[in-house]
Amino acid sequence: MVVVVAAAMASGAAARPLVGGGGRDDRAPLQTSRPFNIAHRGSNGELPEETAAAYARAIDEGADFIEADVEATKDGHLVCFHDTTLDDVTDVADHPEFAGRRRTLEVQWANVTGYFIIDFTLAELKTLRAKQRWDFRDKSHDGVSPIITFEEFIDIALNAKRVVGIYPEMKNPVFMNKHVKWADGKKYEDRFIATLKKYGYGGKYLTPAWRAKPVFIQSFAPTSLIRAAELTDSPLVFLVDDVTARTEDTNQSYDEVTSGEHLDHMGRHNVVGIGPWKDTVVPPTRGNLLATPTDLVAMAHARGMQVTFRNENEFLHFNFRQDPYAEYDYWINDVGVDGLFTDFPASLRRFQDWTARNRD
Ligand SMILES: *[C@@H]1O[C@H](CO)[C@@H](O)[C@H](O)[C@H]1NC(C)=O
Ligand SMILES: *[C@@H]1O[C@H](CO)[C@@H](O)[C@H](O)[C@H]1NC(C)=O
Repeated sequence: MVVVVAAAMASGAAARPLVGGGGRDDRAPLQTSRPFNIAHRGSNGELPEETAAAYARAIDEGADFIEADVEATKDGHLVCFHDTTLDDVTDVADHPEFAGRRRTLEVQWANVTGYFIIDFTLAELKTLRAKQRWDFRDKSHDGVSPIITFEEFIDIALNAKRVVGIYPEMKNPVFMNKHVKWADGKKYEDRFIATLKKYGYGGKYLTPAWRAKPVFIQSFAPTSLIRAAELTDSPLVFLVDDVTARTEDTNQSYDEVTSGEHLDHMGRHNVVGIGPWKDTVVPPTRGNLLATPTDLVAMAHARGMQVTFRNENEFLHFNFRQDPYAEYDYWINDVGVDGLFTDFPASLRRFQDWTARNRD
């Protein structure tokens, strides 16, 4: 408990962000010699997702990038949060003052009921505390950490002792633009990119400007990525859902939008990578064994795109004999992905350090 509070204070106390200072950056650079270790919602296997504590822990554990989902509040602030509703990972249900906020809205072709983040102001959200999503994970930090803003998230990365990249997602952009209005007529995507620019993010992939403040902007929505490409030269990553799922903005299946033609189109708009879910690349059999890999990785690599494997399903296929290192080995060395989203960045870091040592 003490460690978490201290970590949260250390990162929350980022009084002087390294923004536009023009000073020399003596910090250790981002490594680019091996697949990126991307801390999925922070070290969320250990601490409640998308909190300052989870991000600080991920940085301590050696993550190259910290990943976040960015959504908008009722009053137009951008915050780090994954779901459209607050129910599963906050204590909102314990706040009688908000009991009347529960309602049903359509989100991505389905009706969802809960406490929607777009019905709360930032000040109201700050009174809530985060909790672990899964019962089988450590819940001893529930009720401790608040939701953080996108700017607080950026501050954590910029104040790390080495260069740590950010991997923010434009989350549910259709829903955000439908329910949140900004006074100046701007859209969610405009706000998102403007925030990154405010903190000096920009520059094409692997340029010196990018290496100084590494960022990948990710989205499941093709039109949001095209809009982002009009506003920034930062590299973009197209997230790929289950092949039969439909995009929220173009209502095409992910099978359709990952055709060679579509990937070429995206590539012309600064999309340097794709982020498929693991079962999209190697579909499992009904017996939880791996079937034949699809050609998605080869298609992306043929276009010079990175492939980031999204390990969102924490259950291992039986081929890996309950050994997560066997799974890392398969994805890095057999499939050949360029980065891994992981709920446990410490585990991936140790795998990478140990296998690098063994090669010497
Ligand atoms: C959501 O509920 C409304 C009201 O009952 C209904 O009209 C609409 O078709 C539903 N949408 C979906 C996607 O099920
Ligand atoms: C989305 O596409 C599906 C399949 O083509 C179609 O049945 C559905 O009506 C479409 N929905 C909208 C809102 O266009």
